[in-house]
Amino acid sequence: MIRSRDLCSGYGKLRVLFNVNMEAEPNKITVVVGPNGAGKTTLLNSISGLATIHSGRVYFGYRNITGLPPHKISRLGISYVPQMGNVFANLSVEENLRVAGYALDQKKLADRLELVFGMFPVLKDFRHRRAGTLSGGERRMLAIGMGLMKEPKVMLLDEITTDLAPIFVKKVLEKVVELRDELKISVILVEQHAVRALQIADKAYLLVSGTIRYEGDPQELLNHREFAKLYLGVS
Ligand SMILES: Nc1ncnc2c1ncn2[C@@H]1O[C@H](COP(=O)(O)OP(=O)(O)O)[C@@H](O)[C@H]1O
Ligand SMILES: [Mg+2]
Repeated sequence: MIRSRDLCSGYGKLRVLFNVNMEAEPNKITVVVGPNGAGKTTLLNSISGLATIHSGRVYFGYRNITGLPPHKISRLGISYVPQMGNVFANLSVEENLRVAGYALDQKKLADRLELVFGMFPVLKDFRHRRAGTLSGGERRMLAIGMGLMKEPKVMLLDEITTDLAPIFVKKVLEKVVELRDELKISVILVEQHAVRALQIADKAYLLVSGTIRYEGDPQELLNHREFAKLYLGVS
């Protein structure tokens, strides 16, 4: 679905990623873990057209999307939920969702709102509340809902569980599983606090200092003596 080939990218002249080869298969959850500053966000920025590509390629299916501008990549069906969520605190929950779905016609907008409210009943209950008054977990739900308004085939989720209480981590990750199983969306999920995320993953990557250090079975990474201790906080 999404593939990078020998990807070297960063910001202007700054090099952050080095020869990254990753593949996110259709209808799977691909989790990328790694320490702070490893380049996880830069990988998502490179896929969505927000980073500087120095060399290598990014493919969406068979289509080479390297160097396309962000709005074109988004329109192809790749929806990016950035780390800070990009929620408008002064707008209501429903207004935020409508803004995210601005490109849809009235009928599609209504259908999508219904789908998002069906998946996140809490957003329906709070539809008239200012987004700024939501809890951290609810705000992450809203950010995912906003991503869903774009009718994506692929969702790129950046640290959507960071700083959440364990109960909300669990709830948010359950929604990620629903994205895969019920909406047939392919997910690339990036997480620094990774154990829970790896438990729902179909495939795992470990990114350290801009290079892939591990690729494969998530459970194997969780059981890996050295990596689990060094990078996952597992003793
Ligand atoms: N917009 C930016 N402009 C310049 N450098 C950046 C930018 N965003 C991140 N960086 C740098 O890129 C490196 C990797 O950062 P990032 O991809 O955010 O890592 P991670 O998401 O794994 O914590 C860091 O050294 C960071 O300072
Ligand atoms: Mg990051």
